[in-house]
Amino acid sequence: MVDPVAPLARIVVASGNAGKRREIARILTGFEIVSLGDFPGIVFPEEGGDYFENARTKALVAARETGLPCVADDSGLEVDALGGAPGPFSARFGGAGLDDRERIEALLAALRERAAPRTARFFCVAACALPDGHVEVTEGSCPGRILESPEGSGGFGYDPIFRPDGFDRPMAGLTREEKDAISHRGQAFRRLEPVIRRLVRRTDG
Ligand code: IMP
Repeated sequence: MVDPVAPLARIVVASGNAGKRREIARILTGFEIVSLGDFPGIVFPEEGGDYFENARTKALVAARETGLPCVADDSGLEVDALGGAPGPFSARFGGAGLDDRERIEALLAALRERAAPRTARFFCVAACALPDGHVEVTEGSCPGRILESPEGSGGFGYDPIFRPDGFDRPMAGLTREEKDAISHRGQAFRRLEPVIRRLVRRTDG
């Protein structure tokens, strides 16, 4: 339970992706979310690891540089017909410099070459790091199918071509509440919330 009179703990969301930041802020109610933009000049290393390593690194670098508890997420879309790709490389699929719509086109083109099932899942690793280098992670996943063409205008990234299991609409056609309730990010950050509370108490003591 959050004490209604205690000041909210301050945490930084270490992400340059506005879609992710909005969702994380919605899910992690009960914290004062500080913008990474308040700490200009932080340089993050190139991502090259798996989800776990990438999420840990982002949170750790941000915590060390800001002196505050930091959360980060590394996530991606795993398409079975592509052997689980693009996975942790989802933000760069099709090449650097593409926007979301162009990346979706690149993915649909890659799938057109394959007569295979359209099953897929979103996967997310959420990390919370302290300035002393302590870091913990949680994960979440959301199964579904890749549509033939984009639909809907909500969300971000691959949401217009991903239909979560149990829905007749793409992720981009769900309300924010519907997406948060089932998404990989919603699951991972709801699991992270008690971890953040425990870690923040450590820094308070
Ligand atoms: P990264 O975790 O910053 O490396 O990037 C994750 C990428 O995966 C995003 O840029 C999106 O392309 C994709 N992605 C992750 N989560 C979602 C989601 O909730 N909806 C749609 N695309 C997502």
